[in-house]
Amino acid sequence: MLNKKKAYVVAVVGATGAVGQEMMLTLEQRKFPIEKIRLFASERSEGKELEFAGQKIKVERLTDDCFKGIDIALFSAGAERSRIWAPIASKSGCVVIDNSSQWRMDPEVPLVVPEVNSNDLSWHKGIIANPNCSTIQMVVVLKPIHDVAKIKRVVVTTFQSVSGTGMKAMDELMQQTSDMLNFKEIKTNVYPYQIAFNVLPHIDKFLENGYTKEEMKMVNETKKIMGDDTIRVTATTVRVPVFRCHSESLNIETDKKLSVIDVREILSLAKGVIVYDAPDKNIYPMPITAVDKDDTYVGRIREDESIENGINMWIVSDNLRKGAALNAVQIAEELTK
Ligand code: A2P
Repeated sequence: MLNKKKAYVVAVVGATGAVGQEMMLTLEQRKFPIEKIRLFASERSEGKELEFAGQKIKVERLTDDCFKGIDIALFSAGAERSRIWAPIASKSGCVVIDNSSQWRMDPEVPLVVPEVNSNDLSWHKGIIANPNCSTIQMVVVLKPIHDVAKIKRVVVTTFQSVSGTGMKAMDELMQQTSDMLNFKEIKTNVYPYQIAFNVLPHIDKFLENGYTKEEMKMVNETKKIMGDDTIRVTATTVRVPVFRCHSESLNIETDKKLSVIDVREILSLAKGVIVYDAPDKNIYPMPITAVDKDDTYVGRIREDESIENGINMWIVSDNLRKGAALNAVQIAEELTK
């Protein structure tokens, strides 16, 4: 449990990464009460200086006793690092908010989106999991609908930006785009195929059932966060050549009829959601709408005319912010309340 204080010693593990950098920015922008910040990354980055709130802070490497005196550690250095280091950090008395997939489905670990299930924070035992980016933006929209008309089934297709894979993937999209336009040979390292001017129906590893791990994360994490095992979810996750922001096409089937007006009203009152939907004026969310924004934007709301109680919509959110860093910082803020 977190001892309440005026200001906290906060660590960012994976501080040099795409999400780690966004975590630092979010802590600063939201004026999280910080007494001291400690930054960790791999040995490769040890001694490198990063800026936080106008100060230069040296990056450290992880050691067995490095977490002593730290109150909250935000982890975003990959599942393997979280598997090893989150329990060590937690034993040192610090609360871990982990952005990796490592602990999300552990029954002892709450999986939290503050707008949806902040009450689950009450039973944490030192590690709290931050959900998958695509799941976070989806449940922020599903929960307020589910509270009014129970959701029976969701069919989701994602259009995910490369920043979800990390810095190296952003560099690869940049390099490939430049090489393509300069008629140079394309080199592929991060993804199995070129991502520039292409679309890959493949995120994370393929599983035996033919789905990818990313798709099954959306299925399983949604049920855990919403606290309802009966919601059926099926997902297709797709990587697109966009740097930042994930888009999703949602088809939602409810147990009772909701009109487009009902859905607009429900979502316009929902926390963390902006209804951005005026087709007559070409207003609908796109990745460029949501970059650097905290909210999930919803547009293209329309009835699914092929079933009795169905709604289609298009949602876009900044995967580095609400999909990762902001959600983690919001969890930390909840803990300090
Ligand atoms: P480093 O920059 O030193 O490699 P991204 O997801 O954007 O690729 O970022 C991954 C983050 O995880 C980086 O900050 C990276 O640090 C960090 N990281 C990778 N391996 C380790 C490790 N063994 N110990 C601590 N941090 C690590």
